[in-house]
Amino acid sequence: MTDISNLLSQLSTLLGPRGLLTEASDTAPYAEDWRKLYQGSTPAVIRPADTAELAEAVKLCVAAGVAVVPQGGNTSMVAGATPDANNTQLVLSLSRMTKIRAIDAVDLTMTIEAGVTLKAAQNAAAEAGCLLPLSISSEGTAQIGGVLATNAGGNNTVRYGNARDLVLGLEVVMADGEIWNGLRRLRKDNTGYCLRQLFVGSEGTLGVITAAVLKLAPRPTEIEVALCAVASAEAALELFTRFNRHDPAAISAFEYMSGAGMAFVAKHIPGANVPFKAAHYALIELATPRRNARLREGLEEVLAAAMEEEIVIDAVIAESEAQRLSIWKLREEHAEAQKREGASVKNDVSVPVSRVPELLARAAVAGQNLIPGMRMVPFGHMGDGNIHLNFEQPLDMPGAEFLARDHDIMDMVGEIVRDLDGSFSAEHGVGRLKPYMMPSWRGGAELAAMQRIKAALDPCGLMNPGKVLP
Ligand code: MLT
Ligand code: ZN
Repeated sequence: MTDISNLLSQLSTLLGPRGLLTEASDTAPYAEDWRKLYQGSTPAVIRPADTAELAEAVKLCVAAGVAVVPQGGNTSMVAGATPDANNTQLVLSLSRMTKIRAIDAVDLTMTIEAGVTLKAAQNAAAEAGCLLPLSISSEGTAQIGGVLATNAGGNNTVRYGNARDLVLGLEVVMADGEIWNGLRRLRKDNTGYCLRQLFVGSEGTLGVITAAVLKLAPRPTEIEVALCAVASAEAALELFTRFNRHDPAAISAFEYMSGAGMAFVAKHIPGANVPFKAAHYALIELATPRRNARLREGLEEVLAAAMEEEIVIDAVIAESEAQRLSIWKLREEHAEAQKREGASVKNDVSVPVSRVPELLARAAVAGQNLIPGMRMVPFGHMGDGNIHLNFEQPLDMPGAEFLARDHDIMDMVGEIVRDLDGSFSAEHGVGRLKPYMMPSWRGGAELAAMQRIKAALDPCGLMNPGKVLP
């Protein structure tokens, strides 16, 4: 074991008092994950002011043989940015690197540092008359570096793809402390292995993303949002299919929610205004930069026909920006409301879009067989096949007892998902919670290649150890 106090004094000289936290009261919030599943411990949090400082800090850690855990807004759902409990891993926080280096409204690009929150990045893009088309529930806290390192998905994937689809260039501090400046903003660049895509989704296990060039889109001038009570999950899928046939280019989000989740939101989120009670809900957002696109007419037309056929039972269309936000709040507060209700096991799964209703039906039955009284709270991005198939503790079962069954629950869901040709993690990543699933889902040539990549880029194994790979 290295002399950590020697390393800390070198880091203190390099980073100054703002750049290094060592008091337990200061470091504690960085050592626990958002879901409070893991209580880690760290001797220090490194907070570099810029890429050069960060690179020097990594070099010092490598020389001392000390591991680093890169951390953005610490909103991971799979504890991807939490140190272990041994008090030997340093947290590397990007939160002081908050410069928006450039926005180009002609190229439709934004060059931005890793510590900028997604919300601040969206706002900066909007001020330049553009749209950063990535939206997730934690966007007020989540930072660009983490969003890219985890290849976040979110509400607009149906139209614009995941975080990886928005990345043109990256700046990365490699595991040995060398800086790779790949901040190119080219739409075409066909020059060997696509390194940037290796770092996107690597969850900090290969290097540290310090800045990125992101693709922007023209800012929509017409936006319409509707919340519908639908007859069933099949009806929600049918509604999505109808909007797709009507005008696929206009759909910017298509979300599913259950009555159970909506009831939690109504109960736990102040100011949540649920317009009607239903067993199944769909949220549709249409948006376009085209002038006079008459989205409202199209929306009403599709909804009226669906109501006629009792696919849609009730619907409300936002009449103002405030109403639009209040409809979105009902969806975006699902994770928070579920947390307040009690202990939950999350399954961030994806299946082909056409199989979402079957997934929900089978999981409802299998869930009750496994733990009677367990409450299924499915919600999420139906338009791209990603459902948060979460379960809440039964009312008569203590939270700890329920959480002790988490692998049973995840295995039960996993079996159904595998049968439906899906994935065990659609957007939350693997983190510390799910590496044990990798051999059975990604084993053989795929996992072996990942392990060789890890060994090649991080030969000392000091980048976010214990995450992603088993
Ligand atoms: C969401 O879409 O709100 C999140 O991914 C949260 C969750 O799975 O709980
Ligand atoms: Zn999600």
